[in-house]
Amino acid sequence: MRTAVVTGASSGIGQASARALAADGWQVVCGARRTARVEALARELGPPARGLFLDVTDQAAVDVFAELVECCDLLVNCAGGAKGLTRIEQADPAEWEWMFATNVLGTVRLTKAFLPKLTQSPAGLVINMVSIAGHYPYAGGAGYNAAKFGQRALSAVLHRELAGTPVRVTEIDPGLVETEFSLVRFNGDASRAAAVYQGIEPLRAQDVAEAVRWVAAQPAHVNIDSLTITTRDQIGPDRVTRV
Ligand SMILES: NC(=O)c1ccc[n+]([C@@H]2O[C@H](COP(=O)([O-])OP(=O)(O)OC[C@H]3O[C@@H](n4cnc5c(N)ncnc54)[C@H](OP(=O)(O)O)[C@@H]3O)[C@@H](O)[C@H]2O)c1
Repeated sequence: MRTAVVTGASSGIGQASARALAADGWQVVCGARRTARVEALARELGPPARGLFLDVTDQAAVDVFAELVECCDLLVNCAGGAKGLTRIEQADPAEWEWMFATNVLGTVRLTKAFLPKLTQSPAGLVINMVSIAGHYPYAGGAGYNAAKFGQRALSAVLHRELAGTPVRVTEIDPGLVETEFSLVRFNGDASRAAAVYQGIEPLRAQDVAEAVRWVAAQPAHVNIDSLTITTRDQIGPDRVTRV
């Protein structure tokens, strides 16, 4: 049975991806800091799914997590998110550090930790959950834009470094997906978070998870380089049609 490691599996796209992969026959290892949530998800999916504590910003925690996983054919780097929506003149370095530590360095730490196992697989695959914010800047988005541009750059470099090996690399770039993303971005302000999705039909986490499932189901010689997915109501981070 093939093993998939999904980070950020306690919520949103990671959680939905873990469900979609398990339904497709993958043994899924679900990682996040909210251990109770990933353990509950593993119980829901049934054996051999596992839920383990993971903080992608903590090298010691990443090492323990990687030790507990014997083999890995697929790594889905979903842990990440945004903090704040402030113009550069008001930029909060702590928010920028959070975004770099999770989206960029978290992806590097997990990829580095699992590459030795992925290269043992006949059909290894890394899927990086980036964003259209990694392609298109928008006012107030500088910190998240910079982190996602960075995560996208490392994804492209990884693809080039692994070209010709059995390990493939895919970047998925969603637009607006209704998850806990905006709640985290706005520090728990539920009405501000809800306003992000008002007047549109946003993507659901399951829509993006279906792309993860499909990419992971491709035969070993097929590499999906990148996929951009938006609701029909959006053609860029600041191009949303609301009713
Ligand atoms: N929602 C969108 O509109 C959207 C669009 C494009 C791209 N994305 C990207 O998709 C990914 C998933 O976001 P989402 O929409 O599913 O948001 P979400 O519902 O807030 O989920 C974020 C996940 O990241 C995990 N996480 C955050 N910090 C972590 C850390 N230090 N260590 C381990 N896990 C950590 C969270 O788990 P714990 O808090 O339990 O650790 C949670 O499971 C992110 O990279 C995000 O940037 C989202």
